[in-house]
Amino acid sequence: MKPKYSKDIYGDEDAYYMGCPEIVSKHLAEKLSDFDSVAELCCGAGMICVQLAKYIDKVVGVDIKKRRVQNAKKNAKLYGVSDNTEFIVGDVTDENILKSLSAEAVILEPDWSSGKNKDEHVSKLESTKPSSLKLFQLARKYITENIVFRAPKTFSMETLEELGVCRVENIHWNDELKFKIAYYFENYKKSEEEDLHFDPKTLLEE
Ligand SMILES: C[S@@+](CC[C@H](N)C(=O)[O-])C[C@H]1O[C@@H](n2cnc3c(N)ncnc32)[C@H](O)[C@@H]1O
Repeated sequence: MKPKYSKDIYGDEDAYYMGCPEIVSKHLAEKLSDFDSVAELCCGAGMICVQLAKYIDKVVGVDIKKRRVQNAKKNAKLYGVSDNTEFIVGDVTDENILKSLSAEAVILEPDWSSGKNKDEHVSKLESTKPSSLKLFQLARKYITENIVFRAPKTFSMETLEELGVCRVENIHWNDELKFKIAYYFENYKKSEEEDLHFDPKTLLEE
């Protein structure tokens, strides 16, 4: 199988597996390119952050695992975006950490594995780690109303709408639904969803 990334990234097997494919992170970064600053809560080895930083002036990632944050810093260097990225070790439910972040938009990427096998995902907002409901409340209180949520395919539109009005992208590859990206932006009045098809093996040209 061809790799998900155009570079030999730093990260353990889990970070690689959980990481957003490069081509989808690039799409997400382009969608957010009007913002000057973005924070990602639960950034893992930083695979979304390194793409965001190509379009956005200031990118901050937070993850509870020190080793992942160390790898995110190395990945930022690998992708040539060290100057406008910052990575912090911390618990994203810690209000002091959230208060210290200032960003115009925030990406939430909690862990959705059910714990049994890698391909089994939880289907309730409260079951992600940390709880998606709690993360939304905290992000809205301390950072911004402009929130992007990378959610498992097991989250229905009704579930995603519990968090607010949203535009949802159903991300497919090889005609298989893999995950969802839900955008909750201040100016949205009505929820919508669309299917997007990617070939995750399409790597970015340098
Ligand atoms: C789905 S992965 C993120 C993948 C990443 N966005 C990427 O594309 O490379 C979820 C991450 O949440 C982190 N995490 C779980 N609970 C956390 C918490 N309370 N505070 C901060 N990070 C947490 C895990 O360490 C893990 O790296």
